[in-house]
Amino acid sequence: MVKKKLILRQPFKGKWAIISGGSKGIGKATAKIFVQLGGNVCIVARTLETLNIAAEEIKSLRVDENQLVEVISCDMSNMEQVERLFKGYIKEIGVPDYSFNFVGISYPNYTDRLTIEDYKFHMDTNFFGQLNSILTILPYYMERKEGYFINMSSLAGYIGVMGYAAYTPTKFAIVGLSEVLRNEYKAYNIKVSIVYPPDTDTFGLHEEAKTRPEELNIIAEKAGLMQPDEVAEIIIKGVLKEKLYIHAGSSKVYWRIMRLFPKLVHKFTDGDLKKARKKLGKII
Ligand SMILES: NC(=O)c1ccc[n+]([C@@H]2O[C@H](COP(=O)([O-])OP(=O)(O)OC[C@H]3O[C@@H](n4cnc5c(N)ncnc54)[C@H](OP(=O)(O)O)[C@@H]3O)[C@@H](O)[C@H]2O)c1
Repeated sequence: MVKKKLILRQPFKGKWAIISGGSKGIGKATAKIFVQLGGNVCIVARTLETLNIAAEEIKSLRVDENQLVEVISCDMSNMEQVERLFKGYIKEIGVPDYSFNFVGISYPNYTDRLTIEDYKFHMDTNFFGQLNSILTILPYYMERKEGYFINMSSLAGYIGVMGYAAYTPTKFAIVGLSEVLRNEYKAYNIKVSIVYPPDTDTFGLHEEAKTRPEELNIIAEKAGLMQPDEVAEIIIKGVLKEKLYIHAGSSKVYWRIMRLFPKLVHKFTDGDLKKARKKLGKII
């Protein structure tokens, strides 16, 4: 629950956010808080029906009836669509002050069972789905000498775990891209945040469970599960503090250990996998 003090401050009054992946999960939860804190949002996803339902839910949280909630139905992995629809939106409404790039999917499987199409699909959605919007909005931010990109990574953006061979490189790629943007456009007053959520109870996570290798189900039992509203609150607070790295739940501890003692993290992940395989009676 967002603190009353923050709601009273209305830090996003008069501001616009465009949130790709904003019709469900962490994206929708972020849109809800942005509106509670006085802002206007445009949520982007493919399915118009889900977008409209989400928009009604977000609208119900407005603190002022002049606040706007817009929707754009767009496949973020398609640059032609993103350019056309985003430029149209900017012409009509203006340059969004905040660009939340949250589109992402995950269909884990054993590395040798994933097809080349699976790898490309993950990269198209998770990396290009964010890059397309960044490249479209960047020239406007450069001209304005102001802007903010909030890009979605994951714990898989710094730890490689079995089963996620298609997903993990996309999240490492988002970190690399974001770090370059931070350095290259700092002089243009363009800010960047990278978000690292742990497992969060969303549609996407339930989808993931359908193809998860069985070892992962055992390993995941150990890790906690966060709610999208909790993660969104941490994201919004991180953005208000202009943090480059926004961690939720266990992410910060793992990230620190991974940076300082990678071998220790490898020892943990290898041990977890060994135990899971033993439990399943898998002898390799
Ligand atoms: N949930 C977790 O445990 C977790 C953990 C770490 C990181 N993350 C990351 O956080 C982000 C959000 O995850 P989530 O679990 O909240 O997602 P989610 O509930 O599955 O929602 C995904 C959103 O993205 C949209 N989307 C998917 N593909 C799209 C495409 N090609 N073009 C446009 N929109 C598209 C979906 O709507 P349509 O299907 O209608 O397009 C939906 O709005 C992702 O980047 C994910 O990798 C999630």
